Amino acid sequence: MMANRPSSDANPFALLDWYRAAGVDLAVGELPQDRFKSSIKPAKAQADKPDAAVRNPVPPPASMQAAPPEAPTAPLNADPEAARELAAKAQTLEALEESLRNYDGCALKLRATQLVFADGNPEADVMVIGEAPGRDEDLQGKPFVGRSGQLLDRMLAAIGLDRNTVYIANTVPWRPPGNRTPTPAEIATCLPFLHRQIALVAPKFIITVGAPAAQTLFDTKTAISRLRGQWQVLEIAGLSVRAMPTLHPAFLLRQPAQKQLAWRDLLALRQAMDAENTSQ
Ligand code: URA
Repeated sequence: MMANRPSSDANPFALLDWYRAAGVDLAVGELPQDRFKSSIKPAKAQADKPDAAVRNPVPPPASMQAAPPEAPTAPLNADPEAARELAAKAQTLEALEESLRNYDGCALKLRATQLVFADGNPEADVMVIGEAPGRDEDLQGKPFVGRSGQLLDRMLAAIGLDRNTVYIANTVPWRPPGNRTPTPAEIATCLPFLHRQIALVAPKFIITVGAPAAQTLFDTKTAISRLRGQWQVLEIAGLSVRAMPTLHPAFLLRQPAQKQLAWRDLLALRQAMDAENTSQ
């Protein structure tokens, strides 16, 4: 049992509060479960009881017999190679959005309200890449519109940027249930689409916010605390883009003292943009 979790015979409202604080906002699991199957006792346990034959004279049909727990079922075409081929066909952002909308390779789509593709200006020099849509984004269909999005807007404004001068997307475009971190498999099937999105926008600079975006795009397991503030170069489809990893606004809302680090990263971006503008 997890520390601090109220025991199940405690006030049920306390239990619900605890779940809500832990980010559990859906009362169902991610995979369907046949509770009829799992509630049927194996035949041996029944036979041990003297009156088992009387209470259960006919064995249940095979389709109702207890089965081992089901392994997570991947969607049929969860193949990053197929995703790459599909993404590569899109010649415009609109075509890419449409092809993602029809894509069935990522199980996150099954539980999300809608696709959250992008916001901002596709002509912008700066692209912001977050982790995944949250509840507000899932409802509105736009990235970074909730509390962390409001902080992101303030961070961008501090260096003279806004949604007319940046383009915003996420590592995965569907909300993970309960706002959990997307799994490596979910990220892998969506990554070809993100790479294509970057190639089509062709920004001069990328800011990744949070660990999953940085670790995915820079293909590393290094902690965000060590990655942040260090310029990287992303080579995508013949493009070479300078990228600055920084901390996620949702983390900064929880740890405001860390804002000074994010501020340093944003200033580094501002300086690089100014240097680029004066050299032209
Ligand atoms: N957090 C993210 O990483 N992306 C969003 O779109 C919203 C919150």
